[in-house]
Amino acid sequence: MEQEDLWNRLKAYSKTQAYPFHMPGHKRNFGEMINPYEMDITEIYGFDDLHHPEGLLEQAQKRAAKIYGAKESFFLINGSTVGILSAIASVCQKNGKIVMARNSHKSAYHAVYLNELQVEYLYPEYITEYDINGGIVPEHLRELLEEDKNREIQAVYITSPTYEGILSDIGKIADIAHAYEIPFIVDEAHGAHLYFSECFPKGALTFGADIVIQSVHKTLPSFTQTALLHINHSEFVNVEKVKQYLRMYQSSSPSYLLMAGIDRCLRFMEEQGKEKLQELYNNLYSIYGLKKELKELKIMGDEVKNDTSVYDFDSSKIVVSTKGTSLWGDMLKSRLREDFLLELEMAAPSYVLAMTTLCDTQEGIQRLKKALLQIEKDLTRDNTDRIDRTDMYEGIGRIQNLTSGWGIGRPQIKMTIAQAVNSHQHSISIKESKNQISGEFLYVYPPGIPILAPGELITPEIISYIQELKKSELFLQGLEDEQVEDIKVISV
Ligand SMILES: Cc1ncc(COP(=O)(O)O)c(C=O)c1O
Repeated sequence: MEQEDLWNRLKAYSKTQAYPFHMPGHKRNFGEMINPYEMDITEIYGFDDLHHPEGLLEQAQKRAAKIYGAKESFFLINGSTVGILSAIASVCQKNGKIVMARNSHKSAYHAVYLNELQVEYLYPEYITEYDINGGIVPEHLRELLEEDKNREIQAVYITSPTYEGILSDIGKIADIAHAYEIPFIVDEAHGAHLYFSECFPKGALTFGADIVIQSVHKTLPSFTQTALLHINHSEFVNVEKVKQYLRMYQSSSPSYLLMAGIDRCLRFMEEQGKEKLQELYNNLYSIYGLKKELKELKIMGDEVKNDTSVYDFDSSKIVVSTKGTSLWGDMLKSRLREDFLLELEMAAPSYVLAMTTLCDTQEGIQRLKKALLQIEKDLTRDNTDRIDRTDMYEGIGRIQNLTSGWGIGRPQIKMTIAQAVNSHQHSISIKESKNQISGEFLYVYPPGIPILAPGELITPEIISYIQELKKSELFLQGLEDEQVEDIKVISV
């Protein structure tokens, strides 16, 4: 493979047999080949302007709103990230207060920082069987909103579906938020496909969320960075304010290729989405059929649904658990890449995630099935590794199970994120950081959910968790020290 620069590496990679169980949702398998330079323009006559649309782009956004049943929809060319930043800024005032799920993407934390917000966290249930976060319990929101100290809450924000396909009960959560006249924002970055077929769960706009943000590029055939922000038929959102923030946060030179890509993707979904999603659903049957066959690896399925927090499960996300085996998630991910040329979306300590979309082929899904069967066979045969790895594995398991709800213990918040980031800080070794207040974010990427946010107390549990994670090949990010030896803490 030529490796002298990014362009050549991309070109060479596109010719390999590597199969993508990751984003973007087009799976490099959509549309005809064009020379992108031939169509790349700026705001010239006849092509409208995303920031003041009154022609083609206005019509395209109206079409998107109609497809999704929204009052208004906006094209985003900087991912869901820019939608989340704009949504939170539009409903919260500076120094205001938000209720937010603790398993939110880092962009929501960045919005909290930029708007100097105080946060009350909602903790997802914890699904111990798979070591993943479940959904949000609606009653937990009611309890929070009933507290006197939370009279000033300005928004409720959660992620549904999660990276792993867990959906919360949006209808109930919306009803509770609205009873207190509070707007409800849903990060539906992983759910743009939920509006076209009965085979998959229904999306948050259907259940009354006020602002819904979707990464079109994650689950539909659209270019990386493309996303949508929808405003529902809601009395709780000021559309003009949302527009104002989108103008601030989005590039003043949005790519016409990206915007045309969104429109084209949605037209395709209108015409063929239902049929193609049915095909995907049928193809997935062979993977979920493995559930009974596998004894070592486990595939997560509908059994995670419950009456408390997991309202539904999106089976296009294939979660394969290595819990109780000799493999860590990142080891399984590497094995799938190296021995089977299958590139997965994500590894966590005890599972991997394969993302599927309507652009996956039956052949690709069969390749994954065969690979899992082979790995299962090797695991059943080979017990030597299991003994060597048990201690490390249990280290993670023990720490994750310390509390129900949030695996590493609920953070003790000593100051707001903005106060911490803006305080005097100094660096110390993570090993010696017990009882200090973090000045930095730390997260595993993907998924980009902070383990630690600025302003939170560094506990012994968090220190051991970080040490355990460092033994894996997961990417720990957020700290200035990229070696993850030192952390910046607040100076007193
Ligand atoms: C839950 C969630 N929300 C938001 C985002 C940000 O989306 P984007 O990459 O489109 O900006 C991500 C990205 O992975 C995500 O997983």
